[in-house]
Amino acid sequence: MSLELRDVGVTFGGGLFAGPRKQAVRGVKLRLPSDAPHILAIVGESGSGKTTLTRLLLGLLRPTTGQMLWQGRDIWGLDRASWTAYRRAVQAIFQDPFGAYNPVYRVDRMLILPALNFGLAKTADEAHPLAEAALAAVGLRPAETLGRFPHQLSGGQRQRLMVARAMMLKPQVLVADEPVSMVDASLRATILESLSRLRTETGMSLVYVTHDLATAYQIADTIMVMRNGEVVEEGDVVSVIRAPAHAYTSELVAALPPPDPTIDWGLETSP
Ligand SMILES: Nc1ncnc2c1ncn2[C@@H]1O[C@H](COP(=O)(O)OP(=O)(O)O)[C@@H](O)[C@H]1O
Ligand SMILES: [Mg+2]
Repeated sequence: MSLELRDVGVTFGGGLFAGPRKQAVRGVKLRLPSDAPHILAIVGESGSGKTTLTRLLLGLLRPTTGQMLWQGRDIWGLDRASWTAYRRAVQAIFQDPFGAYNPVYRVDRMLILPALNFGLAKTADEAHPLAEAALAAVGLRPAETLGRFPHQLSGGQRQRLMVARAMMLKPQVLVADEPVSMVDASLRATILESLSRLRTETGMSLVYVTHDLATAYQIADTIMVMRNGEVVEEGDVVSVIRAPAHAYTSELVAALPPPDPTIDWGLETSP
């Protein structure tokens, strides 16, 4: 597996009807190590370009300049078969789970269809236990959830559903844009734990986007700090957070709340 952004820039707008020009991302290099599963955190305040980066990684947005490479090949030049393989291998958890769902599909359909489309199961009956296991893994009760429509779930439940769907597909890379922003602290710990467990159990890599430095510290190997569309600092997460080289990172670290003693992260130290 290899995933890379090579000197990527994204400019929005600037056309006659497209609103003012805005350079959302500039000169970004990003590379997930291909030899071992890896968790990369992308942090930065609102508007720093994090979501734009995830859309590039997911093939939802074409870079204005530079390249997005999968297995060393530009994804925008892939043939249909390679594109399908890439779309299965790189899965998403979005910030706004409501927007990502078809409102007329019940939860069971949202899990069973991808299981069939991506060949995890041949029939709906075969897919059912996979869907149930995925829901249980994120703390949702299958019996109470499967027959519901998205609007009948809370924001936190919808977000967990998206995590469940992504986990079920066992992607090589999971791109998660603020995946726990709508759940409470204890559930946040549970979801993040299951995400990092997936790395050890399935060898999945994770791109974890957040404005929350504390959770980045808890689960990531490396960190990239974004500001105004640029990477201001990157490296090993412990070194960057304990000894920030850039003033902006120091500000983010200083803004961290004290560690929550009710959450057991399985770590002995906190920043
Ligand atoms: N489709 C778009 N059209 C115009 N501007 C956009 C669009 N998407 C994002 N932007 C702008 O690009 C910048 C980065 O946005 P975004 O990537 O969403 O940041 P973040 O996720 O870090 O909050 C912001 O200034 C935002 O307003
Ligand atoms: Mg965002």
